[in-house]
Amino acid sequence: MLSKMNDLNHLLIFLGKFTYGFLEALFYMIAPKPKKNVSGEIVLITGAGSGIGRLLALRFAHLGATLVLWDINPEGNQETSKLAKEAGASRVYTYTCNCGQRQDVYRVADQVKKEVGDVTILINNAGVVTGKRFLEIPDECIEKAFDVNIKAHFWIYKAFLPAMMANNHGHLVCISSSAGLLGVNKLSDYCASKFAAFGFAESIFLELHAERKTGIKTTIVCPFFIKTGMFEGCTTANSHLLPILEPKYVVDKIMDAILTEQVYLYLPKFLYYALFLKSFLPAKSGVAVCEYMKIFDVMNSFKGQLKKF
Ligand SMILES: NC(=O)c1ccc[n+]([C@@H]2O[C@H](COP(=O)([O-])OP(=O)(O)OC[C@H]3O[C@@H](n4cnc5c(N)ncnc54)[C@H](O)[C@@H]3O)[C@@H](O)[C@H]2O)c1
Repeated sequence: MLSKMNDLNHLLIFLGKFTYGFLEALFYMIAPKPKKNVSGEIVLITGAGSGIGRLLALRFAHLGATLVLWDINPEGNQETSKLAKEAGASRVYTYTCNCGQRQDVYRVADQVKKEVGDVTILINNAGVVTGKRFLEIPDECIEKAFDVNIKAHFWIYKAFLPAMMANNHGHLVCISSSAGLLGVNKLSDYCASKFAAFGFAESIFLELHAERKTGIKTTIVCPFFIKTGMFEGCTTANSHLLPILEPKYVVDKIMDAILTEQVYLYLPKFLYYALFLKSFLPAKSGVAVCEYMKIFDVMNSFKGQLKKF
């Protein structure tokens, strides 16, 4: 009898939480979601020396956060620091760090903890791409893709998550990619490392929930190509469904997702439908969609990682 009561209790709690989740999502489809205040937070951005990392730094600069900027490229990082100060940031710290090297990550993380304090918002953004047919990718490029695009996330979480857990406060942001949701030809090492980044971030998100550390938020971002120079030369045959994204639009959406504590962000919206279709379409029909949308050609004119910012 007691066990039946417990089962019923368990079921009612589940139904309550499940329905609440739906109702809350529906409510925020019509009402604006409140945005959190990040002034006073310590925000670490990896790959801050250009592109999305730089633009995110400038947004946080406007919001009164302390900025900790990491990049392998000191010149780009200094430029971001200068721009962030011009944008109103009063506390900006730059560190040259090769995120792909575990010892370098731990060394620089210790320095940050001593010189700035405990990081409360961590944005794993640094990334590299090779962009070749699988059999043409040199082994060292495969290793580098994994070192920077995913293994770095492990070392950086290990360095900064303990303090977040002790305070049950923080936000983990993973910049993955649409290539971390759907495979793309000529991006085998990149796709594999970005799928891994997605899986890692989602696993830690659930682990934190299981351990009742719900004060630590997670945001996982999966954008299609962005005009930052990283995928210079890439084309899209359907600019309505899969446009090459403007950096400003992407950063607007990422900031919105962070400030409203949204967990998953896929850009553009078509990716949500593509993932849904993939879950039930026969593989041959899926390949037909790729052919129709000329997905196999998107990397044909890839030139490589150009620095523009
Ligand atoms: N540009 C796109 O089309 C696109 C699409 C989807 C996802 N992304 C992802 O968004 C993130 C930002 O990309 P972006 O477009 O701004 O590219 P970007 O090349 O402009 O910026 C990447 C930054 O990472 C830094 N970096 C590279 N290796 C590093 C290392 N070992 N240690 C520290 N820093 C390192 C670079 O110096 C650079 O400043 C990346 O993770 C990328 O994979 C980009």
